Amino acid sequence: MLHTVAEWRASRAEFLAKTPNATLGVVPTMGALHAGHASLFAAARRDCDLVLATLFVNPTQFDDPSDLARYPRTLDADLALMAEQGVDAALIPPVEELYPPDTGTHYTVQEDHFSRTLCGTHRPGHFTGVLTVVMKLLQIAGATRAYFGEKDWQQLQLIKGMATAFFLETEIIGCPSVRGPDGLALSSRNRHLSPAERALAPQFYKTLCTAPDAASATAQLTALGFAVDYVEDLKAHQRRLSAIRLGNTRLIDNVPLS
Ligand code: PAF
Repeated sequence: MLHTVAEWRASRAEFLAKTPNATLGVVPTMGALHAGHASLFAAARRDCDLVLATLFVNPTQFDDPSDLARYPRTLDADLALMAEQGVDAALIPPVEELYPPDTGTHYTVQEDHFSRTLCGTHRPGHFTGVLTVVMKLLQIAGATRAYFGEKDWQQLQLIKGMATAFFLETEIIGCPSVRGPDGLALSSRNRHLSPAERALAPQFYKTLCTAPDAASATAQLTALGFAVDYVEDLKAHQRRLSAIRLGNTRLIDNVPLS
């Protein structure tokens, strides 16, 4: 387990000295790992010689402090899953390592258009927090490839756009969402659902798959008892994206438009 950028860079240098043309895969996470993350580790393991996972609950992407406070933290189980999936190194930095104490300057990575739509409308500042920390993590990792899940489809597009806009050398790889047998996309937030909410939650995915248009999906989800933040059909991308709330838990999902 590594805690500092310097520790990781020393490990990477040692590995590359032994294996000069090695490829490096990085999987950025916020912990509370599940089979969705395992699929990202597996993809990185398949493609790359060395696999780094980062585990950092990024405070700047939480628009709601109570959401940050209750974000699940399951370090022992996370380390066990990483070991099982053959992750070579885990970088678990304290907040001060990525965000040094205030020096009076404040750097962020901001996108001005797509990030202000969909989830960005409901979570102001969220994507600036995501892009800023991902930029930091990619610079630190120095990886050949970085792996992200398609469940966070808007996030994935924004990260790909950032990598292109800033000529990053790391290739951004999107991996398919992993679902439970009932269709619910795996998410660290699912563990907050009460048994009744968990029983209802699969209707979210089913409705997105079957409703003829976004307005019908919204009406059907509302009738089922979901508080709908949005359902939108992005025709240019042939994707339907949605966010809903069940009690205090916000879930997102996306499906191809048929
Ligand atoms: O998808 C996540 O877990 C996070 O948004 C990420 C990409 C690790 C940045 O904190």
